[in-house]
Amino acid sequence: MAEQSALNLLRDSSPTVSVGILTADLLRLGSEVSLLERTGVKVLHVDVMDGCFCPMMTVGPPFIKAIKTPLLKDVHLMIEEPLEKVADYIAAGADVITIHAEACSHVHRVLQKMRALTNANDPARGIVRGVALNPGTPLEVLEPILDEVELILLLAVNPGWGGQKFIPSTTGRIEKVRRLIANSARRPLLGVDGGITRENIAEVSKTGVDLIVTGSAVFDGKAPEENARFMLSAVRTR
Ligand code: DX5
Ligand code: ZN
Repeated sequence: MAEQSALNLLRDSSPTVSVGILTADLLRLGSEVSLLERTGVKVLHVDVMDGCFCPMMTVGPPFIKAIKTPLLKDVHLMIEEPLEKVADYIAAGADVITIHAEACSHVHRVLQKMRALTNANDPARGIVRGVALNPGTPLEVLEPILDEVELILLLAVNPGWGGQKFIPSTTGRIEKVRRLIANSARRPLLGVDGGITRENIAEVSKTGVDLIVTGSAVFDGKAPEENARFMLSAVRTR
């Protein structure tokens, strides 16, 4: 039987969490990922930063390829001009690949390019194409590209580090994007990324988002497995 597409898996799992691994123990990444698999988490969020679009530098395609897991690999590209780079991330096994509208001279072209690429894990899974917006970016940029995205990711922090504070105006932005999505033909998923904690996750989930990215609140250096279970059950109580 053909595997379910990544998009349908995310739709069926909504609302769910995508766990960011920036603050995991990267030298023991295999066991960090295994512990997530045990909790029922379905999506793994990898923040790719190039030191240009945002201050920090993190990882690239070889790192993504090295992660062996049945979890969906949700790759968040915070890099300048990803047009010539997206293919490498997809070849490395990205199932969800999100670019920043602010980082592309030709955002529509990048999305078109991704549409033509094949999932390296299993072609039947397809690719979920995401567009992310920083907290200071007007939402109007989404309108012309709604037909070419499967995921809209609203950043609730300015990209750069884990552990920042959730910017409150994000809630109003979520509401506006939900209206935009409701009136669209293809109904992309809506995600939020940054500043999600044990304290605010249930409230954020009530805003109606499909995917909640949470990093340092899970990999806090203390109890990642318990944190992941907590976050997963908190999003489902809405
Ligand atoms: C923002 C990144 C986020 C962030 C999540 O720079 O895109 O994925 O690191 O981490 P927390 O949950 O710690 O804000
Ligand atoms: Zn991210």
